[in-house]
Amino acid sequence: TSTQNTQLLIPPEINLPQLIDIKARGRFGCVWKAQLHDRFVAVKVFFLQDKQSWLNEQEVFNTELVHYHPHILNFIAAASRGVGVETELWLITEFHEYGSLADYLKTHTMSLPVALKFMETMATGLSFLHEDIPHKQPHKGHKPAIAHRDFKSKNVLISNDMTAVIADFGLAVKFIPGECTGESHGQVGTRRYMAPEILEGAINFQRDAFLRIDMYAFALVMWEIITRCSDVPGGSTPTYMMPYELELGQHPTLDEMQACVIDQKTRPVVNDLWRQDEVVGILCETMEECWDHDAEARLSAGCVEERINHLHRRIQP
Ligand code: ADE
Repeated sequence: TSTQNTQLLIPPEINLPQLIDIKARGRFGCVWKAQLHDRFVAVKVFFLQDKQSWLNEQEVFNTELVHYHPHILNFIAAASRGVGVETELWLITEFHEYGSLADYLKTHTMSLPVALKFMETMATGLSFLHEDIPHKQPHKGHKPAIAHRDFKSKNVLISNDMTAVIADFGLAVKFIPGECTGESHGQVGTRRYMAPEILEGAINFQRDAFLRIDMYAFALVMWEIITRCSDVPGGSTPTYMMPYELELGQHPTLDEMQACVIDQKTRPVVNDLWRQDEVVGILCETMEECWDHDAEARLSAGCVEERINHLHRRIQP
């Protein structure tokens, strides 16, 4: 049977889902839509050489309190199928029909209220991930701060209520007080979304430096959403472009990224007409504070969440 040589790690009682079709391809393998009993799930199939990200992702999902947060992808199970070179590593999670934000924005625009709610919940999810939550309540352990380290629009999913769900923890790191973080090697993540300090090749970051690197990438994702928001002033909504695609095209080299982001201090284009709308103007300021060259000047996820929450209440009292 299909369950032979299958080791279901957590929890042991479920069967293997049936793969239906491929929804996304990434650096670490592909994501399938699959059926498990009477519901759809997502199955991420890792390449064998990426066992470390499969293990890392489970480690993050197993962190206290990370289960069942509404804006963090929900984990169902991990499985290792087969033996030797044929081994397949599976990660089974909740399935989101709308897929990733990157794919969605290619074919859809968003109204301002939807865009605000999406950005707010994206900040809520990242703020939760970044937060260090001590043992407060009995029976609830300590949640360490976690940096995502590969934040981008492909790794933010859209749930059925059009709120954000943060996914892909293959590169995430936990910061357990008093414990050494281990090999936190410098240039990981996706080149296009790398903060200036990462592009510079700086190493030996501490916790807060990693969280600020996530915030730079967060700002680029905000820009992607604003460019596809149908209520932003300035004429018709432009077609979807990745951050820096206009400046550097589809496959920028590291040198090109460095010249653009560090030497010229270029950022994705912010049209001054956008600021004719007061709410969009405040969003643009928030985004610009998050992609500041000076990492220490960037806003925290919690602060962004609070600001967008205010804006949201202003347009929908
Ligand atoms: N793409 C990547 N992960 C996904 C998921 N869990 N659901 C839907 N699409 C995805």
